[in-house]
Amino acid sequence: MKNSSLVSITDYSVDDILEILEYAEFFENNPRPDLIVDKVAATLFFEPSTRTRLSFETAIQRLGGRVIGFTDAGTSSVSKGESLKDTILTVANYTDFIVMRHPIEGSARYASEISQVPIINAGDGANQHPTQTLLDLYSIHKTQKTLENLNFVMVGDLKYGRTIHSLVHALAHFNPTFHFVAHDLLQIPNEYKLFLENQKIKFYLYSSLENVIKDADIIYMTRVQKERFSDLMEYEKTKDAYILKKNMLNNIKPNMRIMHPLPRVNEISTDIDDTLQAYYFQQAKNGVYTRQSIIKKVLGLNVN
Ligand code: CP
Repeated sequence: MKNSSLVSITDYSVDDILEILEYAEFFENNPRPDLIVDKVAATLFFEPSTRTRLSFETAIQRLGGRVIGFTDAGTSSVSKGESLKDTILTVANYTDFIVMRHPIEGSARYASEISQVPIINAGDGANQHPTQTLLDLYSIHKTQKTLENLNFVMVGDLKYGRTIHSLVHALAHFNPTFHFVAHDLLQIPNEYKLFLENQKIKFYLYSSLENVIKDADIIYMTRVQKERFSDLMEYEKTKDAYILKKNMLNNIKPNMRIMHPLPRVNEISTDIDDTLQAYYFQQAKNGVYTRQSIIKKVLGLNVN
């Protein structure tokens, strides 16, 4: 059925994206504890999560709504063989919208096509993580005061990183320059290179991090995603290829900030956490306001 689901960042126009950022700022400054008091949401997490699930549940509860769901499909009837279709059709009977994370690419699109209530994709395999992208854009705008004409250094697992894939698509609206730093085995996939070439957006590939830091407005670090590798030898070869250390931050632009969708493993040295440049925990906090704005849009609500 047609509904207001958010499955891919490409579902949103640039105007939709700017509307989300406008209302994220609204919710940050104007808590609305009674906006969805009559609503029940489901969070269905078929994969582990800390930030996405807990910031959605915080967002829902701080807007007055209630949450049901599971954090481990093993505790649901999926463990007895129930299909995704039957799970969605059942949970849609109980709720006003569903936030779902699932390991299979395309699962959120499928759910949105059969569900009677909106689906919000909280990550589908290595494909898309649109709500992370919207909170990333909110964070970039807060730190840079613009989204336009910025230099992004994206580092780590660019092959499997769904946060990277969604963010590249969204930033393409704002004339970015991309510097992709990755091991050969984890470079940005060809479909994204082709997309950027078609959009006439500048991008460069690197195997070394040191020389690009000085030009960065945003360094976006990512974890090498062990759970996506079919060959664990490849994971061992690539896992610690890029570690951002404090002594690498000597020659940087004053506005430069370091972002990471988290969780972090080794890729940002902990002695960076207390620097002005470290923005990743504030970025995670911004997820609450951004997800409140997404809920408002998905439910078609007005605030003023
Ligand atoms: N950024 C992110 O998706 O974190 P979680 O896996 O903890 O939800």
